[in-house]
Amino acid sequence: MKLFPKNFLWGTAISSYQTEGNTANADWWQWEKQHPPPDNSRCGSACDFWNRYETYIEHAAALGSRAFRISLEWSRIQPTPTTWDEHALSQYNEIIQTIKSHNMEPVITVWHFSLPQWFAKKGGWTRSYNRGYWNAYCEKLRDTLAKDVRYWVTLNEPGAYAAMGYLTGYWPPGKHSIFKFISTLHGLIQAHRNAYAILKNKDNHIGVSLNLSHDELVHPANWGERFVEMILGHYSDWGFLSYVKNRIDFLGINYYFHNQISWIPGKQRKRHLDKSDLRWDVCPRGMYQVMVKAYAQCKKPIFITENGVADNHDTIRQSFIRDHIAWLHEAYKEGIPVIGYLHWSLMDNVEWQRGKQPRFGLMEMDYEHMTATPRPSFYLYQDIIKAYTERI
Ligand code: BGC
Repeated sequence: MKLFPKNFLWGTAISSYQTEGNTANADWWQWEKQHPPPDNSRCGSACDFWNRYETYIEHAAALGSRAFRISLEWSRIQPTPTTWDEHALSQYNEIIQTIKSHNMEPVITVWHFSLPQWFAKKGGWTRSYNRGYWNAYCEKLRDTLAKDVRYWVTLNEPGAYAAMGYLTGYWPPGKHSIFKFISTLHGLIQAHRNAYAILKNKDNHIGVSLNLSHDELVHPANWGERFVEMILGHYSDWGFLSYVKNRIDFLGINYYFHNQISWIPGKQRKRHLDKSDLRWDVCPRGMYQVMVKAYAQCKKPIFITENGVADNHDTIRQSFIRDHIAWLHEAYKEGIPVIGYLHWSLMDNVEWQRGKQPRFGLMEMDYEHMTATPRPSFYLYQDIIKAYTERI
């Protein structure tokens, strides 16, 4: 029997830009105008979480969740460099209270990819001067929302963000510059450290959510593959971990990827793995391997803050959940201090540059009527939470 402790933080995760809707002050809003997703499904009202949060929170509670991860939209809270939107802050306070009143722990991400347009125009994370604005934002959160938050995530996937915005250019600001990529990473390391120092108190737990992939060399003796491994290890969220591991109370792991690194292009080992609608390999064992490796590096409690699959017809999501949780338990059994598992995501939402087509939800969104309907995997996850939690 796979049992997790009674206080294990089962739940789901969402982010502000992807669900709230009408976040018109965000850089992503502007970006989408010039770079619409393939099916033109821009953010728009998204899931209208901003107005319908109660319904979604009720669904999250009905799952049996003990935690619900949301993010705060910086561009709402600080619409200009010198103003605060008190209404937005009190609405976030309401959302946090609603989560708590449903007996769930709010897990609050301070920054999940989208920036206020004014901050992006000033050069975003590449300019050290801009960190003053970030510090002021964190101080504002400390003074307004922090008393009710026990779990903070400072940043979501800083390495992935820097690569998408400054190397591949798929995300705003759409640059291709190694220099800016590195200064962004550097800026985010400092931003994490400052946020930790500002928000930390004796009752809370502060971490960072990193996109940690399981990377395997096809020919481990090959120096070329080892070199790629070293570069990836340094300039990715794995590298980020080495800079912040002494300033986190827990490590948030977002697990999605399993990569085979081969010096002969296209010569990966044949695997019979399920594939998501985005053609990403499904490799549950990789999550266990990532947990083992990350724990060896940081020796901090591990919190799976995201894990999920794009699967429009809910064909593979049930086995995906079952198998990942089986490997999660394996890690727990071996003594890795795992404090929670959050599935990405509660409902379908805006998948960044890909729009609303990829569907990661335990609930299916009908965007036209703004309704969310549980898929079969919602009920499976509900059963797992019930069956795998110690009663006493
Ligand atoms: C991000 C989410 C995203 C998910 C699926 C994660 O890397 O944090 O915002 O929706 O992956 O791609």
